[in-house]
Amino acid sequence: MTVPRQLEAIRPLWWNPDIAPHGALELIDQTRLPGETVCLTCTTLQSVWDAIKTLQVRGAPAIGVAAAYGVIVGLDERSPTDETWPDLVDKACDHLATSRPTAVNLFWALGRMRNHARRLADQSWRQARIALLDEAHRIRDEDAAMCRAIGEAGQHLVPENGGIITHCNAGALATSEYGTALAVMYAAHHRGRKFTAYVDETRPLLQGSRLTAWELQQAGINTMLICDNMAAVMMKEGKAQIVITGADRIAANGDTANKIGTYGLAVLAAAHDLPFYVAAPSSTFDLALKDGSVIPIEQRDPSEVRTVMDRQTAPDDVPVCNPAFDVTPARLITGIITEKGVISPVTTQAIQTALQD
Ligand code: MRU
Repeated sequence: MTVPRQLEAIRPLWWNPDIAPHGALELIDQTRLPGETVCLTCTTLQSVWDAIKTLQVRGAPAIGVAAAYGVIVGLDERSPTDETWPDLVDKACDHLATSRPTAVNLFWALGRMRNHARRLADQSWRQARIALLDEAHRIRDEDAAMCRAIGEAGQHLVPENGGIITHCNAGALATSEYGTALAVMYAAHHRGRKFTAYVDETRPLLQGSRLTAWELQQAGINTMLICDNMAAVMMKEGKAQIVITGADRIAANGDTANKIGTYGLAVLAAAHDLPFYVAAPSSTFDLALKDGSVIPIEQRDPSEVRTVMDRQTAPDDVPVCNPAFDVTPARLITGIITEKGVISPVTTQAIQTALQD
């Protein structure tokens, strides 16, 4: 099914109650963008797991929302009884938790589904299903509200007639709508501010060129696509005055895991004396981790580096290193833009205080 292009609100995933027999999770297959806008219908737990693993749905908050709906899909498939459903919720959560390791939003959303299930444990499956689906909808709606608030909190940072470098895709496609780093740009754009978004291509899977450039162009924002190795020159020539990226997991001290290449951008920003901001909702913080050294980093298949969009660009057997994320130390981050405001300077104490409010 072709998804109509919605210029105002790109939503990467939604619950469709009309798919027989129980309803299903539907999502825009992001591996097909920008060439084709195709909808994928997930009616099994494994299809939700595969969609997350293969990046058909990707971006930390969107992965969390997909997993929350995935729990419902997984249970519907097993026709639970009033006795078996609580155990099946745990099994579905355990399986979905193995799909990708870095984005903490996945574990955060699954934790919410598990906790909600525990509170409902004495209810029939019929009653529990209604309440669990409501919880998944709440996770989605809260994410959308946090993204809007991030945009408002950070829009003043967008330089009038200036340039912003961003990396990977931290836009509507990576969340339930609107985005995080791109939310800041959307909010500034809606206020009439003129600026250029310099979009890193983001090898190996090109989320910048395939997804961010697609989103920003639809929103009517001046977009300049650059290869990852051009960012330094954009800074040196004065074209970009600020960097804003998303995040997959932020440790208690502010060390931030995000798409591979983010750390390099932060080093470049420091070398050019430019501010480097991270935009993320509170669901992306993992206060149980003292610092970034213990954030699990996903290692992906070497074939992603030996090819560019399925075309071989390296010898078959050349050894490849393919970490999907890196960690930017807090000392290189000027501020973290959250739905509760901008945390700056980035310290353990400032993060704790901001998230408590
Ligand atoms: O591998 P991906 O495409 O899921 O990586 C996504 C990112 O690194 C994003 O920057 C991050 O999830 C923030 S999304 C608002």
